[in-house]
Amino acid sequence: METKTGIAKAAWGNTDGKEVFLYTLTNAKGVQVKITNYGGTVTSWVSSDKNNKVSNVVLGFDSLSGYLAKPPYFGAIVGRYGNRIAKGKFKIDGAQYTLATNNGVNHLHGGNKGFDKQVWDATIANDSIASLQLSYVSKDGEEGYPGNLKVSVRYTLTDDNELKIEYTAETDKATPLNLTNHSYFNLSGDVANTILDESLLIDADNFTPVDSSLIPTGEIKTVKGSPFDFTKATKIGARIDSVKGGYDHNYVLNKKDTSLTKAATLTDDRSGRTLEVFTTQPGMQFYTGNFLDGTIKTSQGAGIQKHAALCMETQHFPDSPNEPKFPTTILLPGQKYHSITVYKLSITK
Ligand code: BGC
Repeated sequence: METKTGIAKAAWGNTDGKEVFLYTLTNAKGVQVKITNYGGTVTSWVSSDKNNKVSNVVLGFDSLSGYLAKPPYFGAIVGRYGNRIAKGKFKIDGAQYTLATNNGVNHLHGGNKGFDKQVWDATIANDSIASLQLSYVSKDGEEGYPGNLKVSVRYTLTDDNELKIEYTAETDKATPLNLTNHSYFNLSGDVANTILDESLLIDADNFTPVDSSLIPTGEIKTVKGSPFDFTKATKIGARIDSVKGGYDHNYVLNKKDTSLTKAATLTDDRSGRTLEVFTTQPGMQFYTGNFLDGTIKTSQGAGIQKHAALCMETQHFPDSPNEPKFPTTILLPGQKYHSITVYKLSITK
């Protein structure tokens, strides 16, 4: 692997009349994360396993065409509102807003052309630091959202194999905002393996149950005594058959403030890899790739099957704009949105 620490830029095509680039972030250990300004997408995260075998731990494609075919948010920045808003409707101060509905009757992940399908502006502050700054201006009315929103995402790959994602935003009208990264992880580094043998711990005593269209019922429910309990490290496949469709739920993290705390630990015995998730956010969507069905192919041509990878999307709770009991997601003019999520990869020999 190339070992020069820093960031390199390569042309990666065009869409919407804009140039798309692929940035390679390399740390002092030779670990590489590739990110494109199309959708602010992490396309690969390549590291050695316990046997020094180098492989990619996230779902992604080698070329822009894979992303233009609209895979389900592989590695992308999701916004303006990550996850669902019931029927695409909400009110702010009595004013009714209607968003694009792109998931049955509901709004999902920002609508028809969310942040994952936009070409972001990218800046390399200093090419010897593995850090990339992306920015995007979402116009008033885009996908039905109020206000011009300026959003920035800074990705940094540290020498401790942490991928740090820092989000900031400002608006000129009150708007719901819920930003996340939608990377799909498979720590074995081989999508032919499912993630059912990987073990997960989520620091959450509660989750938000959903109705049949995956909208929270409003209840904050204990995980105790149910297949949703990951408070102790448990194999993902151990109880997945008793969860209809598989896991696709928001966990209410055990935290009282917005400090950066550990939300989850994912481990894979085959590769010896561990991935820890830290966040300032109150929730995390645990999604086991239930809607993957083999139709989407990797760049090497293999069909990506159900449960081939999983997502740990740090977030505010789905449908918060319609659930007064959930922490607010409304960003007001004059406020500065700021959140941090860190994914840390390590090897246990
Ligand atoms: C959602 C799933 C959805 C997936 C799309 C997840 O965040 O919770 O329901 O199918 O994203 O990739």
